[in-house]
Amino acid sequence: MSALAFDIHGRDGEARTGALTTPRGTIRTPAFMPVGTAASVKAMFPDTVRETGADIILGNTYHLMLRPGAERIARLGGLHDFMNWPGPILTDSGGFQVMSLSKLRKLSEDGVTFQSHIDGSTHLLTPERAVEIQCLLGSDIQMQLDECPPYPCTREEAASAVELSLRWAERSQDAFAKRAAAGHALFGIVQGSIHPDLRERSARALMEMDFPGYAIGGLAVGEGPDLMLETLAQTTPHLPADKPRYLMGVGTPLDIVEAVARGVDMFDCVMPTRSGRHGQAFTWAGKVNLRNAAHADDPGPLDPESPCPAARDYSRAYLHHLVKAGEYLAPMLLTWANVAFYQDLMRAVRAAIQEGRLDELRTRIRVAYG
Ligand code: GUN
Repeated sequence: MSALAFDIHGRDGEARTGALTTPRGTIRTPAFMPVGTAASVKAMFPDTVRETGADIILGNTYHLMLRPGAERIARLGGLHDFMNWPGPILTDSGGFQVMSLSKLRKLSEDGVTFQSHIDGSTHLLTPERAVEIQCLLGSDIQMQLDECPPYPCTREEAASAVELSLRWAERSQDAFAKRAAAGHALFGIVQGSIHPDLRERSARALMEMDFPGYAIGGLAVGEGPDLMLETLAQTTPHLPADKPRYLMGVGTPLDIVEAVARGVDMFDCVMPTRSGRHGQAFTWAGKVNLRNAAHADDPGPLDPESPCPAARDYSRAYLHHLVKAGEYLAPMLLTWANVAFYQDLMRAVRAAIQEGRLDELRTRIRVAYG
């Protein structure tokens, strides 16, 4: 029996809206998960993250195993208590972050050996160890260790990453069955780069293993939005209709609404948080760069359509000043406004699907962000 109940309440074309229920709370879908890489959604209090409407956040195996260490977090009561976030947490398995952050790394059948980007120490991450770490953290939704090939790569490299990821999926499932707590879940990850037949092979083989949810990896790695959406449209039809689908590392507001229209239920991306730390804001009228001198004398709010205090109660002139002066309050307010915008967007997406007007919302987002 699956640890998660996934109920679909409404459909519009391929898009679905519903709820994914975990023992730590219900996740309304389509959902956006703010990224809390190192046990913190950077520059935000957990209560504020929750108040924006986030039902679940994401954490990273790679960062937490290196600092402060998974065993330490377990001794301290697990990740939820450690960071004071009582709601559901999904953790990525670490392989993707090894490839993007660690300089020296070596992939083998067993797993991936790498040097820490923090202190140069050597570590081995296997499918079994990735599950063990995620169990120590107490993650509600774990990801299998996978190989995400770079883009572009040869067809042979893409095929080999699919097969290795499938063998690792089996090992992850065995390890998970042995030690995971009741109520926790493990998702498989579809790979296959931009090749429809490899995506189909990956999705079908994972489906036979019967995961409670399926992630789509290896996208938004440089192929561009058109190829990303085309590959996505060739992948989701091969996944079970009654299980959640999670598009990893995506994306812009436009990527999200377009992926929802192709049947995706869950998203994560550093964009709202990272952009907030760099003076960029997301609004219903599009992206705003607060560094721009055009805002220096603007008494208006960041986004008059936002219910978020950060977007409503401070002038653009003040936000411009904070960014220019390097004040800590600038990343705090802009991250808050951006996380709130992404949650407002997801609320609007869910309502639009329920009411059969997703196309209208897609047009609105294309006008603001296209
Ligand atoms: N985050 C973004 N893309 C990926 C991927 O392909 N695999 C994993 N594990 N994490 C990701």
